[in-house]
Amino acid sequence: MPDIACLNGTFGPLDEARVPVEDRGYLFGDGVYEVVRTYAGEAFLLPAHLDRLERSMAEVRIVPDWDRATLAGWIGEAVRRAGYPEAKIYVHVTRGVAPREHTFPAVPPTTLITVTEIHPLPAGLVAAGVAVVTTDDIRWGRCDVKSLNLLPNVLARQAARDQGAFEAVFVARDGTVAEGAGSNLFVVAGGVLVTPPLGPRILAGTSRAYLMDVAKGLGIETAERPLPARDLARADEVLLTGTTIEVVGVVRVDGSPVGDGKPGPVTRRLAAAFRPRREAAG
Ligand code: PDD
Repeated sequence: MPDIACLNGTFGPLDEARVPVEDRGYLFGDGVYEVVRTYAGEAFLLPAHLDRLERSMAEVRIVPDWDRATLAGWIGEAVRRAGYPEAKIYVHVTRGVAPREHTFPAVPPTTLITVTEIHPLPAGLVAAGVAVVTTDDIRWGRCDVKSLNLLPNVLARQAARDQGAFEAVFVARDGTVAEGAGSNLFVVAGGVLVTPPLGPRILAGTSRAYLMDVAKGLGIETAERPLPARDLARADEVLLTGTTIEVVGVVRVDGSPVGDGKPGPVTRRLAAAFRPRREAAG
């Protein structure tokens, strides 16, 4: 199966796609992106991802030269050409190609779609749960925009890996948890599924919203409120959500065990309910 790229509407093998070095995504990180996945060849939660992409673009004033139906058509065609039943779709829009000057150029954006095979988390890792480490949130003040500028996320994720942890969890100056380097965070406290509120400090995760719907469907109460980082390891359960990781239980925070050190019952129920429902909603 080939990995596919669609660059400004032109399809080809991913390893043959080329962008000029003066692309503003390359020079400035001047762009936004989405990661979508497929189940059984169908893009999951695509309308929510396209809503968020259009919102990110509007927030940074990148004007598309396509309409949503065209973009969705390119995505569908790239998925079809790649042929993977479960694929990762990366959609990336930059302010375009122009001589390096900070102010906006009068050029069309660059729109790149890639489709590659997705590698789900190993079942053993999901069964055992993962470790996280907390880290100061040194990111910009608009984490609700899914910007290409991921240097703090890259550094935090690598520091987590260097410590044997799966994910880094950003903690704001006020001591509350924001989110993971590439995931949203939830805790279960007294049977209630709690996650930090939406706002400029976190990305409005598509899986986050979907998991809250799944929880409501299971009769699990949900709440959005600030979570002090110092309380994390004392929560009954901690879990992460994201497009590629789905739902995964956190069993260690900065080396301290969460609960009995295994993914808890609410996490397991939610993870199990995520899959059949997502296929139905696919
Ligand atoms: N990351 N928060 C951050 C900072 C993220 O980068 C992501 C996703 C999420 C979860 O969002 P969603 O549920 O819509 O995937 C939260 C993607 C997968 C990435 O950068 O690879």
